Amino acid sequence: MTSFAARPGSPGSRIVGLGSFQPDTVVSNHDLAKIMDTSDEWIRERVGIVNRRVAKPEELLVDMAVEAGAKAIADAGLAPTDIEAVLVATCTMPSQIPNAAAQVAHRIGVLAAPAFDLNAACAGFCYALATGSDLVRAGSARYVLVIGAEKLTDWVNPTDRSTAIIFADGAGAAVVGPSEEAAIGPVSWGSAGDLSGMIAVEDRDSFIFQEGQSVFRWATTQIAPIAIDAVERAGIELSDVDVFVPHQANLRIIEAIAKRLKAKGARDDLKIARDIVDSGNTSSASIPLALDHLRQAGEIASGDVALLVGFGAGLSYAGQVVRCP
Ligand SMILES: CC(C)(COP(=O)(O)OP(=O)(O)OC[C@H]1O[C@@H](n2cnc3c(N)ncnc32)[C@H](O)[C@@H]1OP(=O)(O)O)[C@@H](O)C(=O)NCCC(=O)NCCS
Repeated sequence: MTSFAARPGSPGSRIVGLGSFQPDTVVSNHDLAKIMDTSDEWIRERVGIVNRRVAKPEELLVDMAVEAGAKAIADAGLAPTDIEAVLVATCTMPSQIPNAAAQVAHRIGVLAAPAFDLNAACAGFCYALATGSDLVRAGSARYVLVIGAEKLTDWVNPTDRSTAIIFADGAGAAVVGPSEEAAIGPVSWGSAGDLSGMIAVEDRDSFIFQEGQSVFRWATTQIAPIAIDAVERAGIELSDVDVFVPHQANLRIIEAIAKRLKAKGARDDLKIARDIVDSGNTSSASIPLALDHLRQAGEIASGDVALLVGFGAGLSYAGQVVRCP
């Protein structure tokens, strides 16, 4: 039997560009304390957030994704026409159809690209990065634009102190391209659908609900092993990791996972992304936002090994190591 022709893939893949976008409007803990029964002290201590960015009504998820995506393409030194697939990780599109990705591709100038949304909530960016990496390695696309974009404030009850203090808006993006060596490690991913009720939007007229304490316990006990598995799958040691960029859910969760990584061999000087302090929890956007902010601040250098891990509603989780562009 004759086999079908295959488009040659690439031995490895790498992130070749990063970009991010946050709305201008800053909402501080003090601002929230004026409209609900909370305080700056409580939020700092329990969640670690000081400020968060919130989109205006006319600032749409797709607008933020376009901004972040266009910056990532420029950062890669590419033209929009070089991009052969667009993936938008999001769980907050206001419409079921059309998806975000096709509009984003069109507005950036990516011509007739395959474009699809992927919903793995706060694990979405790592899911999409793994998918983009596999598209490149399999030869389905040479360059893939991977975006995490969320307008969570559309889905949060603005007076619910258990969620409105946490969630925020923004977008982050990476361009994945071919590479002789593997600079995006194998993904460690999975889900726990039996726990799907822990974080949910029940129907189109509901706001986000979460069982805060259960989510906290799950994240602080179940996610460090996923991160460690991602390191092992890449064939490196925890001590090789330069920077840890987890989903920015809660500063106490971030510190608890980092502590476990250090107990298992991560270096004392491991850099830890704490972007949540001034960005809030932006779900699938939080990891690329944090990575881009660390790079802008000169905290990471090209070639550094970053350990990414996303986790959240589903429940779902995914992690991989990447070399910083
Ligand atoms: C939501 C979360 C911040 C709540 O913190 P907590 O320490 O678990 O707080 P609890 O729910 O036990 O509430 C403790 C007290 O603080 C109160 N409280 C809750 N939210 C408050 C707020 N924003 N301001 C002031 N007090 C608050 C509660 O009413 C409760 O009061 P009580 O003791 O008088 O009954 C925390 O559970 C959390 O961050 N969970 C993880 C959520 C998350 O990361 N989700 C995203 C996953 S991707």
